[in-house]
Amino acid sequence: MAKINVNGQVREFTAEPDTPLLWVLREQLELTGTKYGCGVAQCGACTVHIDGVPTRSCQRPANSVSPREKVITIEGLSKNGSHPVQKAWVNMDVPQCGYCQSGMIMAAAALLKNRPNPTDADIDAAMTNICRCGTYGRVRAAIKAAAASGRKQAKLDIQHIDGSVA
Ligand code: FES
Ligand code: FES
Repeated sequence: MAKINVNGQVREFTAEPDTPLLWVLREQLELTGTKYGCGVAQCGACTVHIDGVPTRSCQRPANSVSPREKVITIEGLSKNGSHPVQKAWVNMDVPQCGYCQSGMIMAAAALLKNRPNPTDADIDAAMTNICRCGTYGRVRAAIKAAAASGRKQAKLDIQHIDGSVA
């Protein structure tokens, strides 16, 4: 039995050496907001944060994640969808089918944590996620809206559901 720190809680799981973190999150920890798309690190549907770094969980063996590392999934990004990225996504009706959007939001949240005022080039570099519905224009607009709302705060912190700040 291995341990992992997810969304501020220490959870236990069992996995083969090559079992991806994605499957542990979805099938053992019931955190199904993180999606399976391609399985080969291309689409970004499976994006979570590991110590604040956006990570494609389909390619990260679960057993390689130390219990000291903090994993954050879409379920733990904020309390009640209050993260500026989540608010911007709602206000601008970003999702279409929605399948890619957890990964998009996690990638965008990590981008804004590092670059609170991103340029188009910053957004292009960070947002490598694939959306089959073609929501790219709204994604870009929502990131800019979230950045603008974040500038009104002293700092665009990620307030996790456990109350900690990333
Ligand atoms: S499912 Fe992980 S990048 Fe596509
Ligand atoms: S909203 Fe449908 S795949 Fe992105």
